[in-house]
Amino acid sequence: MQSKAEALIRSTVLKGARAVATFNRNRMPTPDVPHPFLSGIHEPLKAEVTLTDLAVTGVLPPALDGRYLRIGPNPVAPNAAAYHWFTGDGMVHGLRIKDGKALWYRNRWIRSNAVADALDVAPAPGLRHLGFDTVNTNVVAIGKRTFALVEAGAYPVELSETLDEQAFNPFDMTLKGSYTAHPHRDPLTGETHAICYEAPNAGEIRHVVVDDEGKVVREQTIAVEHGPMIHDCALTGRYVVILDLPVTFSMKSLVAGHDFPYQWNAGHKARIGLLPRHGSQDDIIWCDIEPSFAFHVANSYDLDDGQVVIDVCAYKTMFAGSLKGPDAISRGLERWTVDPVTRTVSITTLDASPQEFPRPDERRFAQRYRYVYSLALPAADTDRFLGSHVIYKHDLELGTREVHDFGAKRFPGEFVFVPAAPDSAEDEGFVIGLVVDMANDSTDLVILDARRFSQAPLASVRVPHRIPAGFHGNWAPTAAANV
Ligand SMILES: [Fe+2]
Repeated sequence: MQSKAEALIRSTVLKGARAVATFNRNRMPTPDVPHPFLSGIHEPLKAEVTLTDLAVTGVLPPALDGRYLRIGPNPVAPNAAAYHWFTGDGMVHGLRIKDGKALWYRNRWIRSNAVADALDVAPAPGLRHLGFDTVNTNVVAIGKRTFALVEAGAYPVELSETLDEQAFNPFDMTLKGSYTAHPHRDPLTGETHAICYEAPNAGEIRHVVVDDEGKVVREQTIAVEHGPMIHDCALTGRYVVILDLPVTFSMKSLVAGHDFPYQWNAGHKARIGLLPRHGSQDDIIWCDIEPSFAFHVANSYDLDDGQVVIDVCAYKTMFAGSLKGPDAISRGLERWTVDPVTRTVSITTLDASPQEFPRPDERRFAQRYRYVYSLALPAADTDRFLGSHVIYKHDLELGTREVHDFGAKRFPGEFVFVPAAPDSAEDEGFVIGLVVDMANDSTDLVILDARRFSQAPLASVRVPHRIPAGFHGNWAPTAAANV
């Protein structure tokens, strides 16, 4: 853990580095080809709209009463020379579903100071943390509240039902530092766990637990080296799983003016940490793993013999070359089995097809589970990262995979499982997400029957414009609704 003196030195150095970075960014030559994450399926929208007359194909399940919310980068005025996909101004999209009807669609920028300046509107009120306020990665319900989230710096942004009211809110002032884009709620305890890091503090990460009222009840610091980018975490009945992998803060990238100062670091030892849920850093069981990277965990759980299973979408490296976005071909869906006695990790391939955004039935989170849904990634090298027209349903018990193919020029994003009822079986419910139709310059919210995964959708709601490929989406049920 860094001392106060070290923190002060680092903070001062970073301020200077940021000034040099701004100078260098402004001197970067404008590229003569379109930026891959500012064009095609990533081209940003230019306006906010509210639509209430939405065409529905099929029958929307009456059980669905809530909002599908999804967020992603939608930069207002990007500097194409320095732009990285992960750093674009956030825009949240929402569709309200009730009584078999699609009541509205809204898209709203997260009102950071820069967005507010560009749009000439008031910025979202609330405290900024360390000068960061771009929030673009996930939008989640915690208790009865909705928050837009990002990692590495900015505080969460609380959103109103219609997305129109926004406020930076460090969980009612109970959060001391940054948060994460991937908190995970343990359905058995109601606690939401996260591993958090922040760019100016390379020597420390934090385990943060938030209760169902949206208040921090634990914030435990953990010493690390090199400022690892820790995008996701996992939970088992006993442990919080820490992915300390070799993508770390890069002062060189920052000073050069690049928006995203994280790079593959071959000098950073890859390791998995098993933190007892109520333990301190001295209790962590660190286990070596061959150099690998994973943005996202599907799920994790304890085996009877004491080992720990972690299912992830994995890569051999990440950010080893490109400064614009993810630059490695996915190694597929893998099972990392951690032995806390030998402190080793064995890697088994569950499905070698490139894929991302793995999602389980979250009622099974931190427990044994059977099904995971994921988005296929292009098998060939692509500079846009996304671009497949296929999603998967994996049956991990049978070792089988079903495919839903949306067809040519139709590009799905992350799909999330929504149970049909609170007590329904693990795959009894709906799989929901956005599909961009590039041929028609439109987007569909598509609802599949999880048990008839490959068949035609139950329903789709047409949004008459292209929603740029983004990051994460979730179903936010109306408070009183079952689903
Ligand atoms: Fe993510």
